[in-house]
Amino acid sequence: MRILRTIPEVRAAVEEARSAGGTVGLVPTMGAFHDGHLSLMRAARAASDLVVVSLFVNPTQFAANEDLSTYPRDEDRDAALAEAEGVDILFAPSASEIYPEGFATSIHVAGLTDVLDGASRGAHHFDGVATVVTKLFGIVRPDAAYFGQKDAQQVLVVRRVVRDLDLDVRIVACPIVREPDGLAMSSRNVYLDPDARAQATALNRALDAAAAAFEAGERDGDAILAAAHHVLLGAGIAPEYLELRDAETLEPAARVERDTLLAVAARVGAARLIDNHVLSVTDAPTPIDERGDA
Ligand code: PAF
Repeated sequence: MRILRTIPEVRAAVEEARSAGGTVGLVPTMGAFHDGHLSLMRAARAASDLVVVSLFVNPTQFAANEDLSTYPRDEDRDAALAEAEGVDILFAPSASEIYPEGFATSIHVAGLTDVLDGASRGAHHFDGVATVVTKLFGIVRPDAAYFGQKDAQQVLVVRRVVRDLDLDVRIVACPIVREPDGLAMSSRNVYLDPDARAQATALNRALDAAAAAFEAGERDGDAILAAAHHVLLGAGIAPEYLELRDAETLEPAARVERDTLLAVAARVGAARLIDNHVLSVTDAPTPIDERGDA
């Protein structure tokens, strides 16, 4: 595996693979790898000749009061894990490589970013994500890019950018990877002390309770959310949001008659955590669960 720091180096390596007829898979990350990231690398490895993983803690997607300075960073560990997954290139640029002096462009996706994490974290968050991901697509020009379904709204935002800007890349959403007790894997789980770690399991338990109500035939949104609120309350967690939204448009869903995203965000101890389930009214994969669809 090669660790590359500059855009021309990455372009040259990708060009070499492409001119030999190879396909390119990109896994955009901010490092601090866990099994969720590794599952994206495996999916990319299985489908591409050249696998590029970007490792860049993107400053523009953090608000001033967020955890940019403390975000876990361990490039040596990440590089060893990526290499073990058969990654070909780890692109680990400096901030000035991505945002040189005079950088003035920002991509804003209207509508989809007004709700959930966009409302909670502020508009800058998805603007920062959309801009850096578009830039990475421009640098690597991948055939496919792999994202985790834990960030369901991010997947929808990236898909909308790809659609609206006619970018020639397939967006693949991979399933949430969970700890044995159900906690969704996240780089931010390292912020949890033992008490908060135990408390954090309530997020997935709450989503499970809501999903169980749905599976039992409940279609009223308030009733489904009440099942989740009950679990969160029992664990002493006041969610930042707990909402049902159309799984494609993120319009509010008063009833679950279409595939619906059940999304939660909460502060647990020192961590802000998010999780989601898709309540599917069909057996077919939902738009944000499906694999390999742009
Ligand atoms: O999901 C992440 O880790 C980040 O939001 C991403 C997609 C790498 C952009 O910085």
